[in-house]
Amino acid sequence: MTRNCIILFMFVLIQIILSEEIRNKDLVLVPSESTNENEEQERTLANDDTNYDIFHATNQWQTIREDQSIPPGLHVQIDLTTGEKRAKLMDEKTSDGSENNKAQSSQYPTKQKYIKIDKNIISKQKLKDALKDFKDKFHSEDLDDELQTTHEKNKYRSMDEIKQEFEGANIWMKKDIEIIQDLVAKLNSSESAKSVILVALEELEYLVHQIDNARDLDVIGGLALVVNLLNQTDNEIQSQAAYVIGSAAQSNLPVQVSLLESGALQLLTRLLVNTQDSPSTRKKALYALSAMLRLFPKGTQKFLKIGGLPILASLFQENENEPLRIKALTLLVDLLTEQMDSIKKKAKEMRIQDYEKAALKAPLLKAMYQEGWCKLSTTLITTTDTETKEKLLQAFQILLPACRAEWKQDTKLKVALKLWREQWRSEIDRDNQDDTGYLETLVKLADTVEQKCA
Ligand SMILES: *[C@@H]1O[C@H](CO)[C@@H](O)[C@H](O)[C@H]1NC(C)=O
Ligand SMILES: *[C@@H]1O[C@H](CO)[C@@H](O)[C@H](O)[C@H]1NC(C)=O
Repeated sequence: MTRNCIILFMFVLIQIILSEEIRNKDLVLVPSESTNENEEQERTLANDDTNYDIFHATNQWQTIREDQSIPPGLHVQIDLTTGEKRAKLMDEKTSDGSENNKAQSSQYPTKQKYIKIDKNIISKQKLKDALKDFKDKFHSEDLDDELQTTHEKNKYRSMDEIKQEFEGANIWMKKDIEIIQDLVAKLNSSESAKSVILVALEELEYLVHQIDNARDLDVIGGLALVVNLLNQTDNEIQSQAAYVIGSAAQSNLPVQVSLLESGALQLLTRLLVNTQDSPSTRKKALYALSAMLRLFPKGTQKFLKIGGLPILASLFQENENEPLRIKALTLLVDLLTEQMDSIKKKAKEMRIQDYEKAALKAPLLKAMYQEGWCKLSTTLITTTDTETKEKLLQAFQILLPACRAEWKQDTKLKVALKLWREQWRSEIDRDNQDDTGYLETLVKLADTVEQKCA
């Protein structure tokens, strides 16, 4: 999900930068000169903060000097023989404009497929900073959910599609593997100070959101190094290592498999349940654990085999860690949903009529029942947070078939559900502002659970 957000954002950025130029096929075309690439990039990065002389565009073509930066949204031409760059203001949307475009595209045949974003407009570092800021915001699951519900993500294309379109483009991804190798060398050096390790992990965390980068990290042995860092005594390093693992594992099967074999599961669960660890370290451990297990049935099996349910249940013995508990329950609910969906699918394929009923045979549902999760989940009803209540209701709904008998006797649960429902109902009536129907949905959910436990 987070990866999608980044892809979406990167795409939007690219769109902004190239805006009209892409649509008009009026690209900045430059033959690729990979030997100068590095030098040039370095220079641009180094000069990041200096003030450039800005090119002042008019309606006439003018030559851009080497030291001038050009604002976005101009027509730019490059003479491929002399390297001279010229620019002018975009034409208004007139018939003249379309004429112009036609001339342009024939002037620059499509076989020259190397495009370059002018690095004076946006440097790699600036882009990276912007991305990073964005990415951090999206590490919150709530935002993810919000995005998902608005179906925004469907409007954007995958990184692979974008890459394909920009085939051969030296934008910024080309050298990722070299950066990763450098960072791994830092992690592997006994001489690296803690601060160096932390920065290297931070950089890696940014890079591994890209599926290929995460796989490369694994292939060159870097992922194993990161897993080893979980075994360190320093909480900050452990935390940052868990963060890298979580981001690398998300929807990345080869990485998930590799992590499972590396013993990361045990190290992460240990990190999660250790009450001496900082809350943020434990949260990162759960983040990594979730990423390792989601959409990876083998991982879930292994997790249950090493006592995953009692391990997560132990979080309910502590005080004051509601966020961790609700995240743990949500993880189990997600894994259970996956299991039930997969059973339903198989049952349908086998033409079993009552596939809904077949799904109730999910091993995880039975295990959760046996390990006391009917009771554990209801201990969270003391929450005052609406989103937590929503997650709880979803958990109740999926656990209902197994827990109904127990919950029928649970007066506290029934009182709480009634209270929530009434509060939301009166909020809807009072403010008359439930535009998205969110509270209405919650009322219905609570109502369903309540009725089935009556
Ligand atoms: C780490 O360094 C050792 C030698 O010091 C080397 O054998 C090993 O391949 C390195 N690991 C990685 C992942 O680079
Ligand atoms: C973690 O460290 C302990 C000893 O400190 C060692 O026995 C264990 O094998 C290590 N685990 C991993 C996965 O490296």
